[in-house]
Amino acid sequence: MDIKQVMVIGAGQMGSGIAHVHALAGFEVMLYDLDQASIEKGIQTITKQFQRQVEKGRMTEGEMDITLSRIHQSTELQDAKKADFIVEAVVENMEVKTNLFAKLDDLAPADTILATNTSSLPITEIAAATNRPEKVIGMHFMNPVPVMKLVEIIRGLATADDVYETVEALTKKLNKTPVEVNDFPGFVSNRVLMPMINEAIYTVYEGVATPEAVDEVMKLGMNHPMGPLTLADFIGLDTCLYIMETLHEGFGDDKYRPCPLLRKYVKAGWLGKKTGRGFYVYHK
Ligand code: NAI
Repeated sequence: MDIKQVMVIGAGQMGSGIAHVHALAGFEVMLYDLDQASIEKGIQTITKQFQRQVEKGRMTEGEMDITLSRIHQSTELQDAKKADFIVEAVVENMEVKTNLFAKLDDLAPADTILATNTSSLPITEIAAATNRPEKVIGMHFMNPVPVMKLVEIIRGLATADDVYETVEALTKKLNKTPVEVNDFPGFVSNRVLMPMINEAIYTVYEGVATPEAVDEVMKLGMNHPMGPLTLADFIGLDTCLYIMETLHEGFGDDKYRPCPLLRKYVKAGWLGKKTGRGFYVYHK
């Protein structure tokens, strides 16, 4: 399938990164969000990242301007009518995603693929909200999108082979490595990562160690480039909680129970780096 016009739904941390890598690979991108301020913040982030590339001599100013000119802002979901490929990166909530997919299904051309960047929610259930489940697929980018090489590609029960192949080829065009996984809660990445983060939060909750100490143990002792609590702040504590809830609900096992301290921080609005406070305090 020939993809020219990509639409990214949600201009937060992930959506802006996804728009960045598509524009860099030469696609025209519409960056859509309900919230105009999020789009502007997203474009600012992308611009800063390109400027850094120019400073490092990895890109010319002319290349930066051309790449940025491929990214268009949108607050009109109707723009889905013009999209060959849509990738969704809104909040990790099933109801929000299924409502959105039902609307996108009504608006987008019949052969447009609808991909979701969900970290943990079942692709099959998102696909069932549409009349084109064969064209719905999981395309799970890692954070920060411009840096991380992996894209987990998840087939729903009905995903067609040619849709999988198109998304696999697209991932390679973005200079990333696709890995195919099956549709189970958390896929592979978050099924392995999130219980570790949740356990790290339990160690703080139970007074075993401070966040700094937990992170130091995992960095120096296990050679992790970033401690689990720094990583949780970076991912967003709301997203971490949603993922733990999805694992808990999906597998029903107590080992996936979200730590009460994680719930407390989310209720307090301490969502990590994006709000300036999580396990650590960030100065803007
Ligand atoms: P975020 O909170 O930074 O951004 C979410 C954006 O979605 C916000 O700009 C918000 O205004 C917008 N939004 C919410 N409801 C909307 C709707 N109905 N229509 C349009 N826009 C809407 O969240 P983030 O971190 O970018 O996560 C987005 C998705 O990516 C989630 O599904 C998350 O699980 C997934 N993800 C997150 C990763 C991370 O490290 N944060 C890594 C990989 C996937």
